[in-house]
Amino acid sequence: MPHPFIAHTLAALPSPQTPESAARAFYERISTRRSVRFFSQRTVSEETIRWCVAAAGTAPSGANKQPWRFVCVRDPGLKHEIRIAAESEEREFYTRKANPEWLADLAPLDTTSDKAFLDDAPWLVIVFKCMKADAGHGSEQVYYVNESVGIAVGLFLAALHHAGLAALTHTPSPMGFLSKLLGRPESERAFVLIPVGYPADSCIVPDIHRKSVEEIMIVR
Ligand SMILES: Cc1cc2nc3c(=O)[nH]c(=O)nc-3n(C[C@H](O)[C@H](O)[C@H](O)COP(=O)(O)O)c2cc1C
Repeated sequence: MPHPFIAHTLAALPSPQTPESAARAFYERISTRRSVRFFSQRTVSEETIRWCVAAAGTAPSGANKQPWRFVCVRDPGLKHEIRIAAESEEREFYTRKANPEWLADLAPLDTTSDKAFLDDAPWLVIVFKCMKADAGHGSEQVYYVNESVGIAVGLFLAALHHAGLAALTHTPSPMGFLSKLLGRPESERAFVLIPVGYPADSCIVPDIHRKSVEEIMIVR
């Protein structure tokens, strides 16, 4: 057989957990995740970030191309450069680019072009999508890149939350400046910028509501 296969055994649930209790416990934990926009300067170890990136890297991907790169920035000077560039894009967004509907949808979040969290959070993790497969991973083509990287980011956010950390999914638009500042090749495009750390003591979050499971689930 040209392509080897190995036996797969599903990891058993620790007794006395049942699928129902395990699923519920995960829901109860993950439902406490919130996007945080006010960070303290408390440090987070590189090892913690490394495990969370490793968890993200277990995501499924189109033809197993794993088309993602996680650039983890802790250098204060580089974080500040990112802040300056992001705020300049964001000023343009809030004053000229965003249409009234978009601004109205953002109003409950009270977000502005001020992005102090880009200085304050101890880590800025910039996730890039790879538009060309890495050497040693078959042809140069990549498939379902947005879906694959989106799933990896979801796992990353879940891993951060599991580790007791706070994060924000931030998408300054456009994000081309990140490729330049971080010296990434043409084949990699910035997908999302994720500040990671601990919430500031005074951190507040918008009082928003999630759809109920009845609204999002259809059983046939
Ligand atoms: C793809 C994506 C892009 C986002 N971009 C931004 C952003 O640029 N700035 C920001 O403050 N929040 C951003 N958010 C965070 C959302 O506003 C937030 O997830 C939403 O309001 C729900 O709040 P929660 O994450 O606390 O549940 C983004 C979220 C996603 C998934």
